[in-house]
Amino acid sequence: MQRRDFLKYSAALGVLSSFPLLSGRLYAAERPRLPIPTLLEPDAQSSIRLTAQVGKSVLAGHQATTWGYNGSLLGPALRLEQGKKVNVEIHNRLSESTTVHWHGLEIPGEVDGGPQGVIAPGASRQVSFTPQQRAATCWFHPHQHGKTGHQVAMGLAGLVLIDDLESRQLMLPKQWGIDDIPLIIQDKRFDADGQIDYQLDVMSAAVGWFGDTLLCNGVNYPQFGALRGWLRLRLLNGCNARSLELATSDGRPMYVVGSDGGLLAEPVKVESLPVLMGERFEVLVEVKDAKPFEIMALPVTQMGMQVAPFDKPQPVVRIQPVPVHGSGELPDTLAKVPELPKLEGLNTRWLQLMMDPRLDQMGMQALMEKYGQGAMAGMDHGAMGHGDMEQMKGGMDHSAMDHGAMGKMANGDRKLDIYNANKINGKAFDMNTPSFNVPRGQYERWTISGEGDMMLHPFHIHGTQFRILSEDGKPPAEHRRGWKDTVRVEGKRSEVLVRFDHTAPAQHSYMAHCHLLEHEDTGMMLGFTVS
Ligand code: C2O
Ligand code: CU
Ligand code: CU
Repeated sequence: MQRRDFLKYSAALGVLSSFPLLSGRLYAAERPRLPIPTLLEPDAQSSIRLTAQVGKSVLAGHQATTWGYNGSLLGPALRLEQGKKVNVEIHNRLSESTTVHWHGLEIPGEVDGGPQGVIAPGASRQVSFTPQQRAATCWFHPHQHGKTGHQVAMGLAGLVLIDDLESRQLMLPKQWGIDDIPLIIQDKRFDADGQIDYQLDVMSAAVGWFGDTLLCNGVNYPQFGALRGWLRLRLLNGCNARSLELATSDGRPMYVVGSDGGLLAEPVKVESLPVLMGERFEVLVEVKDAKPFEIMALPVTQMGMQVAPFDKPQPVVRIQPVPVHGSGELPDTLAKVPELPKLEGLNTRWLQLMMDPRLDQMGMQALMEKYGQGAMAGMDHGAMGHGDMEQMKGGMDHSAMDHGAMGKMANGDRKLDIYNANKINGKAFDMNTPSFNVPRGQYERWTISGEGDMMLHPFHIHGTQFRILSEDGKPPAEHRRGWKDTVRVEGKRSEVLVRFDHTAPAQHSYMAHCHLLEHEDTGMMLGFTVS
């Protein structure tokens, strides 16, 4: 932040707080402030220290046990510089094993922190890498196999900001916590004691774990005092299983300037913005006058995600303008995004996502049983076909979902093992057997198919920022044509152009998986090597 801006800003805040009436009108007193994650830069030795630890947080009015990095919930935002090496010392003070994965970073498999990068309780691990990729908003989170969903739900997640020369020369808002703010959006559910109520069971293995409370940077519906001018929002969908559709409450447009792996060529104006689990977008919104507005999460048609209160738009954060002008701009052009190379003759791969049909059906039945028809979100409009829905309704009427019936279903011919019920190319994740090897530095076309079920599978690939060639059977939307590490797969096929510039050996292979964390934890993941 420039010194002058800082002085202006703090002077204004000072004035505000000395006029309780005025500030009272500006800040709804009962609404908590938006917490801003601390920026953490490498020290003089290029080192950063991260500790996964247990703490307490007040969530939705209750004291809950939560997990965080260097604190009790979420983590700092690491600011890294393109071309500059960093050593990260990771300490695990949890009572179970964990890993720290660098989602979106193009770094070697050895330091990628996938399910093989296990850090035992009480132990630590040091990783060093040099980000060579362009400026981007990435993130880090645990990747302990079978436990990722739980560990993320408990609060483990943080941001990684990469800066480069190109991004620094742009006039984009870049004063952290002032006109450049992160919104880490997550839903959670609590038990009667106010504790995070996580379950990996038939229902969540099928549709994912979802909650009834939306948190933004760990707080339910906070408010943020914004300068008049352009506000940059770094959006992260950190939900385990919920896709988001974000919009402003007063219909003011959002200008998308960046996707997962970096800035777009030019801003793309949108009225609303779908953000899948694991995805990041950077958007600019204009704060012109004194009128407050909200960032809202609109209802989505994803299975299970219309359970109340998400059948109605939910506020994410209130943006409350303060009477000080900001200096950031919305540039006409942003970054160089290269043309796609020639696609003919490239290596191709086919990744067929599969759910055990029994899991699919039992999961949906459990969902209907618990939350009623409304939970099926658009699925009752023939999307399932083949009369599956009728059959299911029939089953419901005869209360097929009592535990006896469940047991019988599960014991059909073979017991349904939910930990291996989701698959890719017919195989549930096997840590010891990489599925294939990719030659380093070469473009390949991968097709990911979701034909076979109607679930949303945001598919993510480690070690690369790719380009989307087609997304769920359609050309990608304008703002999804830049650098991406996650692609939508929902009943159809998506095609991506990938290239890996680093290696990944069998002991630390890269992962490709569904980022609906309960699908990932129950097998919809594969490992691959790069050499
Ligand atoms: Cu965000 Cu393999 O993960
Ligand atoms: Cu990742
Ligand atoms: Cu999935």
